[in-house]
Amino acid sequence: MNKGKARKLRINILRYDPNDKNDRPHMETFELEEAPGMTLFIALNDIREHYDASLKFDFVCRAGICGSCAMIINGRPGLACRTLTSKMPDEITLAPLPVFELIGDLSVFTGNWMRGLNERLETWIHDEQLKLDFNRLEERMEPETAEEIYELDRCIECGCCVAGCGTIQMREDFVGAVGLNKIARYRIDPRDKRSDEEYYELVGDENGVFGCMTLLGCEDVCPKELPLQSKIAYLRRKMVAIGK
Ligand code: SF4
Ligand code: F3S
Ligand code: FES
Repeated sequence: MNKGKARKLRINILRYDPNDKNDRPHMETFELEEAPGMTLFIALNDIREHYDASLKFDFVCRAGICGSCAMIINGRPGLACRTLTSKMPDEITLAPLPVFELIGDLSVFTGNWMRGLNERLETWIHDEQLKLDFNRLEERMEPETAEEIYELDRCIECGCCVAGCGTIQMREDFVGAVGLNKIARYRIDPRDKRSDEEYYELVGDENGVFGCMTLLGCEDVCPKELPLQSKIAYLRRKMVAIGK
């Protein structure tokens, strides 16, 4: 049986080691044979194993869960482990996500940025009474509300929406769709007792919901297909009402 010839892939990678003062950002091209079911994650491992052991990129789960393998793939943020080379042209260009601290080549430190965001937005349940009474039963919640919270909690903090947002390039303190999604998630959670004013304090300004210019890149590139647009619109309506 003739299975046909495997495709040759040309993978261009933006390489740079910010810790090496003699290094400059430059492209390197690797050619490899495509294998059945190959993902970019597999291709990158292939390159590291057979061509250049110094190539830096991140991965943990290989299943679209940990969010660590996000990079710019042919100009668009995406997860390397969920990108099949068979869906890509013969020539693939990879670059690290912008905005985040570069560790080297395709590896960026999203954890630092996300931690700062979570601390700034205090992304945990706020309930002063609960602190005083640990034995209190959690209050009941409508199944639809629980489902909505579950849906928004699927964010894997990959940073794709941040990399795909023009506003963040101009306004470095903008919380991005990831931050607004988190606030929407806590705003609908009946266990969180923060007042409207407290939420307004967090995202009722230009680094929050009023900075979003509805560029829509975030929802386009979110690998978890979160309903970012509708949640940003929901928050904006709420914040406008509170701010009046
Ligand atoms: Fe990634 Fe989507 Fe979460 Fe943004 S909202 S960090 S794109 S999973
Ligand atoms: Fe950015 Fe998404 Fe708003 S791309 S500007 S957060 S709609
Ligand atoms: Fe975990 Fe890709 S390696 S999302």
